[in-house]
Amino acid sequence: MEKPEPKVAKSEDHHSFAQPEQAIMTHLDLELEVDFEQKQLKGKAKIHFKNNKYDQLFLDTRGLEIEKITVGDRELKYTLHNEIEYLGSALEIEIDTFTEALNIFYRTSADAPALQWLSPQQTAGKSAPFLFTQSQAILARTWIPCQDSPGIRFTYNAKIKVPKGLTALMSAESLTTDSSDGLFEFKMEQPIPAYLMALAVGKLSFEALGSRTGVYAEPATIHKAKKEFEDLEEMLETAEKIYGEYAWGRYDVLVLPPSFPFGGMENPRITFATPTILAGDKSLVSLVAHELAHSWSGNLVTNATWNDFWLNEGFTVYFEYRIMEEIYGEDVFKMLALISYQDLQSELESMNFSEDTHLKLNLTGRDPDEGLTSIAYDKGFFFLKLIEETVGKKSWDKFLINYFDEHKFKSVNTEEFLAYLDKNLLDTIPGSKDQIIPEKWVYGPGLPDNCPQIVSEKFEKAEQAANNFIENGTAPTNTKGWMYQEWVHFIRSLNGKIDAKQMGQLDALFGLSNSGNNEVLFEWLMLAVDNHYTTAYGQLEKFLKDVGRRKFIAPLYKKMADDENLNKTAERIYKNARPNYHYVATSTIDQYFSNSNQ
Ligand code: BES
Ligand code: ZN
Repeated sequence: MEKPEPKVAKSEDHHSFAQPEQAIMTHLDLELEVDFEQKQLKGKAKIHFKNNKYDQLFLDTRGLEIEKITVGDRELKYTLHNEIEYLGSALEIEIDTFTEALNIFYRTSADAPALQWLSPQQTAGKSAPFLFTQSQAILARTWIPCQDSPGIRFTYNAKIKVPKGLTALMSAESLTTDSSDGLFEFKMEQPIPAYLMALAVGKLSFEALGSRTGVYAEPATIHKAKKEFEDLEEMLETAEKIYGEYAWGRYDVLVLPPSFPFGGMENPRITFATPTILAGDKSLVSLVAHELAHSWSGNLVTNATWNDFWLNEGFTVYFEYRIMEEIYGEDVFKMLALISYQDLQSELESMNFSEDTHLKLNLTGRDPDEGLTSIAYDKGFFFLKLIEETVGKKSWDKFLINYFDEHKFKSVNTEEFLAYLDKNLLDTIPGSKDQIIPEKWVYGPGLPDNCPQIVSEKFEKAEQAANNFIENGTAPTNTKGWMYQEWVHFIRSLNGKIDAKQMGQLDALFGLSNSGNNEVLFEWLMLAVDNHYTTAYGQLEKFLKDVGRRKFIAPLYKKMADDENLNKTAERIYKNARPNYHYVATSTIDQYFSNSNQ
């Protein structure tokens, strides 16, 4: 009789087949060869685990082709269970009750969602191919057989063979001294969850920025990147001043080709970043502050499951804004916080105040990607800001330093955090808990009434400027020193209140259709779609073709797809651009085009 399908985790993580109470992974030895022709990684993963005297080991896999599993010379029996959407196939391996390590020989599939293989044409330099991984949330299993749960941590060593002339980077310390044969070695001595496994291979240059910081990019981009991230070392020092020692040794940033679907990804020791933040004036470096902040909230103390995602992202946004405030001043902090507030308001409306607007999520049976909304980020931020305002910065910072220190290299769920918060902070400050009402924030919908109010003079002025233009057609004259956030706010304030002709007037004055700041350009293009401002359509098409960052392209496609005049155009552009996009982006955008199962 066929064995019953394994249960999706007995533990609380419903997105992993691992059964950590039986056997838990502790270390990985990875040996992979990168084959650009076959678009395939092939090699061996040696899994080390602590065995609680069980005779089976459960791992997560998705689309992996398993060649054999061995202990020494002996082959082990295994079952690759039926594939479940998003989760992949549980790999059940028969082991002895004393087995504590085994080798898995395997290869990845050509369409593994974590891997993006770029042809030379799809890179800035056009001369060499490029590969990068994106493992969060549950895509590590598409390139490594492992226990792919944020509650399980392991150390790793890796040997990566790449075509000569290319560089391999991983979320680990490099041990390579001579790479002339294309062999790169890495070691990560601090235990990390699988979603922080990362690899990038391409023609790459490096520039040091400080003693612990630097930037990698394609040679064509390195110069711009170096200038943009000038303040990196200062950011790292500022972060350490607020929350304690940086735990990971080096902090580098890798600027990826434009198809990277996210803004940034906090891979330990090396943040992966989109080139769309290279504005030329350091105006978008808050993204790097965000990824750096994850070195504490996320990488050091990790959400136990994807339902606790706000513990990663809410803390990180809070911390990002603190770093920005420290370096660039209070005005910048207020503008960032207000943009968060606006994003949150529009997300709440579009989510209809459903249960998905609770901080604690219930993603059972769904792709954890669905938790990637403004709730975790911005509602999370305002909850933490409220605690800060209620108890005072001094007590709150002291609490946070201890929180990170006591939970370092551990995973924490929402309930554990709330209990720790009560015991170590709120219980010691009479009345604070009644003022904050944490349950309302964490287990209730929408935005509670006690949400901190932020006022920004700069935004009030930008709004006034927008109103002047709407009401009597006078364009602002004092925009010389405007920061990009002021432009964003100005454009948002025009939403629904001006037409294509008026957009033309502003464009003639400020060249917004050609803005070099992608946040500004994005807002402007959204407005252009709303108003059928055809003058910007060329830029719109170019933007959709050049950029692969989901945060920008998905809302634009959605707006166009919902507009009967633009639906066909959107479909045409998408069809052309889709081969350049990452799985993460196409899996979202495909849904907007019912009959284009490309
Ligand atoms: N860790 C996230 C990206 C992520 C989350 C990838 C969940 C996959 C699943 C990263 O830190 C992030 O939040 N990136 C943001 C930028 C940030 C400044 C808000 C992004 O990519 O837009
Ligand atoms: Zn983040």
